[in-house]
Amino acid sequence: MTTTISVRQLATTAMMTALLVVLGLFPGIPLGLIPVPIVLQNLGIMLVGALLRARFGTISVGLLLLMAFIGLPVLSGGRGGAAVFFGPTGGYLIGWLLAPALISGLSTIWHARETHGWWRELVIILLIGVGLVDLIGSLWLAGQSHMTLSTALLSNAAFLPGDILKAIIAVLLARRLRPVLKLA
Ligand code: BTN
Repeated sequence: MTTTISVRQLATTAMMTALLVVLGLFPGIPLGLIPVPIVLQNLGIMLVGALLRARFGTISVGLLLLMAFIGLPVLSGGRGGAAVFFGPTGGYLIGWLLAPALISGLSTIWHARETHGWWRELVIILLIGVGLVDLIGSLWLAGQSHMTLSTALLSNAAFLPGDILKAIIAVLLARRLRPVLKLA
């Protein structure tokens, strides 16, 4: 029933926002090359995209960003405040807001949530949750810190091994959790 699905989706939305907050308790690991840390929180963003429908995924990440914007310490390492959104990592945060709807939408179009669609789901999460987020993050970083776009993009290669691993974990977790949470 539609109502049941909506209540379930709402409860899962709140649960996913809570998970994002918990992942934010882990401090970022500074890279040195660029003022952007390796974080665990983007694993949660990928999982939100894989589990929730577009609207609910955007709400879930939007709530996290809203809490961060008003100053709650919900970003990696207990950071928060409007200034973060105008700092070097602001582009990644924009990417985080866009990612769930795109992951969810593409997964529906490409039937990636079906039993045999795991590799399609992985490709979508890699393209959006890793590629697009890093691209927007690099564009922002280049504009914000007088760095060339190619330097920003090349520096982002340092995130790839960890982010690819996070994408694989997100797909594995989503495929385990979907039946348990009874999400389509
Ligand atoms: C923030 O907390 O201000 C946002 C941090 C963004 C970190 C980005 S997300 C993609 C890439 N992978 C990482 O592990 N870190 C960067």
